[in-house]
Amino acid sequence: MAILKIARMGHPVLRRPADDVADPTAPEIRALASDMLETMIDAPGVGLAAPQVHEPLRMVIFRVPLTEVESMAGGEPPLTVLINPTLEPQGEEMEENWEGCLSLPGLRGLVPRYTHLRYRGVDLDGQEIDRTVDGFHARVVQHECDHLEGILYPQRMRDLTGLIFESEMRHVIAEIRAQEQAEDAAGQEVEE
Ligand code: NI
Repeated sequence: MAILKIARMGHPVLRRPADDVADPTAPEIRALASDMLETMIDAPGVGLAAPQVHEPLRMVIFRVPLTEVESMAGGEPPLTVLINPTLEPQGEEMEENWEGCLSLPGLRGLVPRYTHLRYRGVDLDGQEIDRTVDGFHARVVQHECDHLEGILYPQRMRDLTGLIFESEMRHVIAEIRAQEQAEDAAGQEVEE
């Protein structure tokens, strides 16, 4: 096991489409997954794509927090190694939410993603993965799999005023709270 160096925005490995994994059960692929897991936990992050550790292969790992796992049918484990994935958005509905990326340290962006997603691929044993998920889970998979196409989240943003430093998120949170309080106050007036 080893903690790997993470490529940052601007490195060519993040801009090119990744190659299929010829043999998902190969020992070197298992070793790479193991190093990616250690790297992701150390960072810390919720997901990591192989190109981010300078391996241009179609492989991602992610860990959906337990609070978000209800979107997973059948109670699969929260850590997934997904190899040679294909994504199929379910419907046109999209939602915006904040994302970060280990290849863009210190930044956050408001990114639209499909709300409902079916994804397929294989795991390290060559077993088929086929899940239909939504919300946070769907977002993480779309973000990680974009890395396999050479796409970083700012390229998905509709409005770059939503690209900010993580250290300024407190202003965003304050604005959201103020808006919620204004809405609550308006709601109370109606009730009275
Ligand atoms: Ni990322």
